[in-house]
Amino acid sequence: DFVVHPPKFPWSFKGLLSAYDRDSMRRGFEVYKQVCAACHSLEYIRYRELVGVIFSKDEAKAQAAEATYVDGPNDKGEMFERPGKLTDVMPKPYPNPEAAKAANNGALPPDLTFITRARHGGPDYIYALLTGYKEAPAGVNLGEGQHYNPYFPGGAISMAQALYNEIIEYQDGTPATQSQLAKDVVTFLAWCAEPEGDTRKRYFIKSMVFMGVFMGTLYYFTRGKFAYLK
Ligand code: HEM
Repeated sequence: DFVVHPPKFPWSFKGLLSAYDRDSMRRGFEVYKQVCAACHSLEYIRYRELVGVIFSKDEAKAQAAEATYVDGPNDKGEMFERPGKLTDVMPKPYPNPEAAKAANNGALPPDLTFITRARHGGPDYIYALLTGYKEAPAGVNLGEGQHYNPYFPGGAISMAQALYNEIIEYQDGTPATQSQLAKDVVTFLAWCAEPEGDTRKRYFIKSMVFMGVFMGTLYYFTRGKFAYLK
């Protein structure tokens, strides 16, 4: 199998002193919801986790309420449908993996929660994959329902190109070019895979400052204490 390595991109969240671009994440959620969610689940993300990150509490509640969930059993032992709540995970596109495969020529669309960490190349790879569809070169035989993408190991992927210019309209008016859509959804998915990233960096910086002061003080006093030994 041949594989083309993706170029490296200057992600907002890459590096010690940088954080997830929240506007980009918010647009990325729109992309996930309106495009990717047709086939991919985001099983481990609950609406409440988006509160204070890209949504106010009311906005997140409204987002959740747009989806319908089967719940129960109730007092009479029946299952029932209800609108989503803050504590619900993102709605799944298929009831089970068999149904997911049946709808996609036998290929299983993976859950996207940890995808930016699960794949070699991480966010750079996902971005390249989403924007890298090409016409199959001579000699490459594609199976039924397969598409050519040089970034996908082997080149033949069972996911059709999902992102095109203007495939959705952004609420904040940002021009929805293919590269913008890909950048935003990858930023959102990178957060999903590592929602504690910003906090972890902040604690690291705080601990380094604290340790610096602490070690400095310690050095100063130990010097004074042991000076007579010289
Ligand atoms: C696979 C992302 C939309 C169907 C994948 C993979 C990623 C991905 C990262 C894994 C590739 C790998 O294994 O290395 C996305 C994103 C989407 C999107 C971010 C929205 C922008 C869709 C849609 C469909 C779909 C709309 C269905 C119409 C699939 C299938 C696979 C797949 C069937 C498995 C492909 C294979 O193993 O050959 N997708 N996807 N995806 N996706 Fe999507």
